[in-house]
Amino acid sequence: MRGLFITFEGIDGSGKTTQINHFEKYIADSGIDYIKTREPGGSKGAEEIRSLLVKGKTSRWSPETEILLFFASRRDHMEKTITPALEAGKIVICDRFTDSSRIYQGLARSGAVSKVDELHKMMIGLEPDLTFILDIEPRLALKRGLARMSGEDRFEDFGEEFQKKARKGFLKLSKEFPIRCKLINADREPSKISKDIINQYKNLAQAKI
Ligand code: TYD
Repeated sequence: MRGLFITFEGIDGSGKTTQINHFEKYIADSGIDYIKTREPGGSKGAEEIRSLLVKGKTSRWSPETEILLFFASRRDHMEKTITPALEAGKIVICDRFTDSSRIYQGLARSGAVSKVDELHKMMIGLEPDLTFILDIEPRLALKRGLARMSGEDRFEDFGEEFQKKARKGFLKLSKEFPIRCKLINADREPSKISKDIINQYKNLAQAKI
């Protein structure tokens, strides 16, 4: 049986990484076969493209070039990592996927949603079974994000207005795809958030059996 493809989305600093780690622990403790991966990245070639994308000045790439780089990395990630794992029946836990391109490149940066959707159809064609969108006030999120100073802050550097647009985009997305996308209030105790996520996952897993 094909595995399940589960993605986590949200603006920078929404607490995604903590929640992915909690969810991973739950899946691992349940003895389920899984992989954890991320975008941009997740395969050797895609990780190389990642460093082009997340480092350097905001003006480094035009929105169009950026879209192409994200899709090049996504295609490699899908071919080498995601598809083989799904075909082997594993759960794929993925930090971001095409929804991030829909929001960051398509909506917040250039108004090019249709370009992103067309490229996705042409080159990827795979949608997650379940997507958790961690929702939080941008000012709070930005504080957390920049506080990390990871050296990968190119997108945080676009500032609060950009993150506000991105948040709106994610909210809209959750209404467009209400079955796949679950909106999670991320301004709560981490343990409450992760309980919520695990319950939603259990509902899906039961429905698939
Ligand atoms: P990520 O490593 O998830 O950063 P964070 O942990 O801060 O959320 O993603 C790196 C950046 O890349 C993030 O700011 C969002 C951006 N991004 C896009 O703009 N488009 C995309 O398609 C993806 C996958 C990420």
